[in-house]
Amino acid sequence: MNAPRLIQVSAADPAAIRAELVAGLEAPHPALSPKFLYDALGSRLFAAITELPEYYPTRTEAAIFREHLDAMAADLGPAPTLVELGAGNCEKAARLFAALSVRRYVAVDISADYLLAALDRLQYEHPAMQMLGVGLDFSDALDLPAEVGPGPRLLFYPGSSIGNFAPDEALAFLRRMHAACAGGRLLIGVDLVKPLEVLEPAYDDALGVTAAFNRNLLLHLNRLIGADFALHDWRHVAFFNTRESRIEMHLEAARDATVRWPGGERRFAAGERIHTENSYKWRLDDFADLLGAAGFRKPRAWRDGRDWFAVFAAEA
Ligand code: AVJ
Repeated sequence: MNAPRLIQVSAADPAAIRAELVAGLEAPHPALSPKFLYDALGSRLFAAITELPEYYPTRTEAAIFREHLDAMAADLGPAPTLVELGAGNCEKAARLFAALSVRRYVAVDISADYLLAALDRLQYEHPAMQMLGVGLDFSDALDLPAEVGPGPRLLFYPGSSIGNFAPDEALAFLRRMHAACAGGRLLIGVDLVKPLEVLEPAYDDALGVTAAFNRNLLLHLNRLIGADFALHDWRHVAFFNTRESRIEMHLEAARDATVRWPGGERRFAAGERIHTENSYKWRLDDFADLLGAAGFRKPRAWRDGRDWFAVFAAEA
């Protein structure tokens, strides 16, 4: 039996993180990167979100893979090297291994630590496969290490995480993905525009798990920069911005609040907000055009029966 290998490519620099966070808090329109939603508790809360009745993306994407796996496999052919971005618990890629005859699985996520347990478990179930975990913050650059090996790659980016990027950033990121899988292919999950009555509850669920996920960012911030956010002062706000075609998440001060951290402070008036996430929703044709603009050829998509979500394949 093989054993998973782990490489940490770029460890986060605490001083740079602190500078980024403080700049975000001090900006005229305070905003923080959604990547800070995922500390250990945040990752567990996101996993809980995917179980909520209102949160359709994860189970809709899973249904597309279940229903169209044979058609996808016939279309894609074998994929000896499968590289997954934002692999997390590595559950999604595992469903493709048999159909795509995957021999080497490369799981990329911000923290190699988080990948270890998932890869150990997968290796046990697939003893003959080569498994590599890569700790890399690919939001800045997508420089995959040489250990990924030669030969064409199938780059797999499921879950509609591309939705965190504004269209111009998504184009830039897709271009980097194109470079990272030249001669190979891309397989990417994309959440589609749909009625407000479906979109908004998915990001403001009745149980309050998404609110906890968003507010937990403040606990993470308290640890990262030594701030003193009082969680009771902050509430979760989520809505669909139709003009921008995106869900926006914010944290809104429920009352006047002053937040202090070593070296600084900011006063927030009641109703002031910190913008914490965008989740863009695409129209099918627009995303196909975006893939073309990034250099991908022959974009094609599989969808669920309600056209809520799409899985695109394209040639790099
Ligand atoms: C992980 C970025 C795909 O945008 O739906 C879920 C994150 N935020 N609920 C999404 C999220 C609030 C999620 N992505």
